[in-house]
This record gives sequence, C-alpha cells and structure tokens, in this order.
Amino acid sequence: MNVIVVPDYEQLSLHAAEAVAAEIRARARTVLGLPTGNTPKGMYRELVRMHQAGELDFSGVVTFNLDEYWGLSPDHPMSFAYYMRTHLVDHVNIPPGQAHWPQSQGDQDAACRAYEEQIRAAGGLDLVVLGIGNNGHIGFNEPGTPFDSRTHVVRLAEETRLANFRGYGFPDLDAVPKFGISMGIATIMSARRVLLLASGREKATAVARTVAGPVTEQVPASILQRHPDATIIVDEEAAFALASREA
Ligand code: F6R
Repeated sequence: MNVIVVPDYEQLSLHAAEAVAAEIRARARTVLGLPTGNTPKGMYRELVRMHQAGELDFSGVVTFNLDEYWGLSPDHPMSFAYYMRTHLVDHVNIPPGQAHWPQSQGDQDAACRAYEEQIRAAGGLDLVVLGIGNNGHIGFNEPGTPFDSRTHVVRLAEETRLANFRGYGFPDLDAVPKFGISMGIATIMSARRVLLLASGREKATAVARTVAGPVTEQVPASILQRHPDATIIVDEEAAFALASREA
C-alpha cells in the first residue's frame, strides 16, 4: 500500500482531487466509486473548481456512490444521493444517467443485485475513493463484514450511527437510519485503483491498523494491503500512530 502523508486537510484535498483528475484525463470514459462524509468535501470542492476553471471535463465520467442509508429516498436532504448532487453532480457536466447511487427502498435483494449489475455493465470500477470510519469501516462495511461480500444491506454499528449523528447534522440519534446499503468489500477490491483518505487525530488508530496491522475482517480497510494498486493519503494528524511517516 502506498502511503502519502501531507501536512493538513487542505493538502489532502488537493492531492486527492489531483489523483481523481488524473484518472479522468487518462481515458475517454472513467468509472468512479465515490464516498460521502466530511473527509471528501474538500476534494469535491477542488474538482468542481477545476471543472469551472475549464480544467476538467466530466462528460465521460460515470459515478457510483459507495453506499446509501436504507429507507431514505434520494431526495431526502440527509441521503447520500442528495449529498452527491450538492457537492459534485449539480456543479459539473456529468451527463444525466451517468451518476448512480444504490436503490434504497423496496426489495433489498433486487436492489443489491441491480447495483452490482450496473457496475458490471459500466465496465467495472476504474477508481474507488474511500473515507474510513474510526472503527476501520469502508463504505458501510462494518467490522466483521466478510471480505468476499458484494453489495449488501447492513445494520449500522451504533458507533457509526453516533458518528453520523454528530458529524452530519441529523436532528437526533433516532433520525439516523439503522440500516444502509453498501458496495461490499469484494466490490471495492475489484476496482483497478483504490484511494483512501483520512484526516484528523480521531482516524489515527484506524489508519495504523489499516496500514500496519494484520489483515482481518475486524478492520475492513486492512484488506487494502492486498490490493495491487491502493494508495492512502493521510494528513499529519491521521498519520500520528504510524511508525514511519513518508512525505
Ligand atoms: C460514506 C462512507 C463512510 C465514510 C466514513 C468516514 O460514503 O462510505 O465509510 O467514508 O464513515 O466518514 P467521514 O469522512 O465523515 O469521517
């Protein structure tokens, strides 16, 4: 796993946006798996800036959100679909129909199968960008998720619900859905490249376990040690618990 340590969140956002832009420029059509959350907001801001400055064309970009709350409609302001429109899709020239999020209501098995089929039909994922939970989760793949999992519906860990309540502006904890739908670990690992972003001291333990700990389903992100092209960009605070820091 390639580890890049940058001084702060601003640099992390610029590095991440540059890496995504390079993938987009490298081919006529690029299929991205994308995260929501607080960490990638700066990256999206920079990607939108690049587009508005005429530096980046999204017409050949196809996106798949990593995950979604089960039960929230895509129009719900707390849904990840809404987040993705607000932070990226509404501000760039991704053609209608090329931005995807998992179906989050109705038949769960059908929703999971359909998402895998859409990714397959798009030609597979060129690059997946990930954030990481304090417990090492990626997407909504909580500790204990099998490494061979594909898109599935998951019960969210209470610490994840609590983190999302505190971090994302839900009115109260009861309003945070108890289930999510997420690309599985195997779906993420099937991407040609993976880029994981982590910022802040609270991520330091998860980062150290991901980079240097045993590969275990108890730390979902640790599987990235086995990916042939995985990069993790961390700021100094998130790198705090790493034994050796690279510049
Ligand atoms: C969100 C997602 C989650 C987040 C993780 C970190 O789509 O997949 O795994 O990346 O919970 O969230 P933040 O960035 O808010 O700390």
